[in-house]
Amino acid sequence: MKLPVGARIIGVGAGLPASVVKNSDLTRLVDTSDEWITTRTGIKERRIALDTETTSGLAIEAARDALGFAGIEADTIDLIIVATSTPDDLYPSTACKVQGAIGAVHAAAFDLEAACTGIVYALAVAHQFIGSGTYKRVLVIGADIHSRFLDWEDRNTCILFGDGAGAFVLEADEEGETGILSTYLRADGTGAHLLSIPNTGSAYPHTGTTPPRAVERYLQMNGKAIYNFAVQRVPEAVKTACESAGITVEDVDFLVPHQANIRIIKSAAERLGMSPEQLVTNVDEMGNTSAASIPLALWQAIQRDQIKVPSTICLVGFGAGLTWASAIVRWTARDHRRIQKKTEHTKESTDKRETQEV
Ligand code: ACO
Repeated sequence: MKLPVGARIIGVGAGLPASVVKNSDLTRLVDTSDEWITTRTGIKERRIALDTETTSGLAIEAARDALGFAGIEADTIDLIIVATSTPDDLYPSTACKVQGAIGAVHAAAFDLEAACTGIVYALAVAHQFIGSGTYKRVLVIGADIHSRFLDWEDRNTCILFGDGAGAFVLEADEEGETGILSTYLRADGTGAHLLSIPNTGSAYPHTGTTPPRAVERYLQMNGKAIYNFAVQRVPEAVKTACESAGITVEDVDFLVPHQANIRIIKSAAERLGMSPEQLVTNVDEMGNTSAASIPLALWQAIQRDQIKVPSTICLVGFGAGLTWASAIVRWTARDHRRIQKKTEHTKESTDKRETQEV
């Protein structure tokens, strides 16, 4: 359905813990090897939060970076949505903490939970708010610290995840054009048991008449089932989002998939007939950063000058719930800070030349 107002992404940003944990570091914790992790997942290293770092802290860093990219002030933001499964606390929301810290004084704020798919869900919600004319500027952040919910003695899971935050700034397109061409959201709750972090919510009675039990609060996953789910659903989501946008898969320049496992990404690309150059990946450096992974991958591809402007991009996520989602985006954003630097440099050179001529 075409919305009355167009929306485009004008900024992207990152917030990362400084600490890098390599595969070789993990061999001291569990019975694994760099070779096993690299060949089965594509992951070489990941960022892991220090005790002093928080989901909201990383989200705030990503938000500031994305605002800088867009060249806009926080007080012009109307809404902040943070996609996270690992908030600092059950409440207040991480989005409210971001709102307060960055001074987005006019913004409403809430969290959204759709696990690793959360960022695409949040983008779709932002698109709807802008498309209906309710808001002009929305900050969307994916932020997760999964390392706090991993069993560091379980080699099946602890090697997979990294921590981080990624952000997008969306704006109403005054020229009537649209940068978000389509979004597609799906869920299948019958697969809820396949990937979960149990005993972290109200289903586990911590107080009252029931005495506290010793329980595991660690991420639990049926890796094979999630793998099979992902390799089927990712191509389906890409094709459906293309159809809704009125384009074909051949029109997509870059695929930015959720960064869980390079084998999942390559298998999906093969099924879609996409070349390795069209894949945006940084799973080797970041591992699976859950809701942060899609903006972090795009952010890094922009740093590496992989993304041409303009280009047509497909974002596709999958994760616990089960959930999966995709979006087709016409990418036109350029880093405001780079443009400013270039302008200053050109001005400096011109001034120098003029002084020399005089
Ligand atoms: N090091 C060495 N050996 C290992 C390790 C490890 N880190 N982990 C598992 N193994 C062993 C297993 O114990 C098994 O041994 P066994 O045959 O003696 O039992 C063997 O390696 C093979 O294990 P498989 O499970 O068959 O390995 P597979 O090739 O399927 O890879 C993996 C496992 C990487 C987990 C894969 O299934 C996967 O990536 N699944 C998807 C996971 C995912 O994407 N999750 C996140 C979703 S997003 C979200 O919402 C959080």
